[in-house]
Amino acid sequence: MKIKIINGPNLNMTGTREPSVYGAVTLDTINAEIQKEAEKLGVDVVFFQSNYEGAIIDEIWASQDFDGIIINPGALTHYSYAVRDAISGAGVPCIEVHLSNIYAREEFRHKSVTAPVCKGQISGLGKYGYILALKAFAEVK
Ligand code: DQA
Repeated sequence: MKIKIINGPNLNMTGTREPSVYGAVTLDTINAEIQKEAEKLGVDVVFFQSNYEGAIIDEIWASQDFDGIIINPGALTHYSYAVRDAISGAGVPCIEVHLSNIYAREEFRHKSVTAPVCKGQISGLGKYGYILALKAFAEVK
């Protein structure tokens, strides 16, 4: 099984930006933990992060030979119909992850335009969201 982990705008600054909201652990450290878990589960993982909407869209379309995508689209979650269309068009099952609980924050974050075309969404469990999404792909048939 091959899973791609896609992180969107500003997620590269995780660990230093607003640590009280997003945690004090860097994206590299989170990815290393995902990698370790993937090895235990016998899953191949590939990591991608970009601050650019178009690059994320290209990466989603380039994942059609993957079994799943775990995506944290960052703020694109709330307004990018283009990312949503790429997810539904590419046809690769996606699980949406958010470090913070988007429903406990500002009103504009309560709406995800991407979640309706994903298998599910995990919000507010920090780095564990990625790990749980990986386990779901590996273990939920
Ligand atoms: C986020 C939540 C978004 O609202 C925000 O714009 C982000 C990160 C999260 O992981 O909690 O950049 O996706």
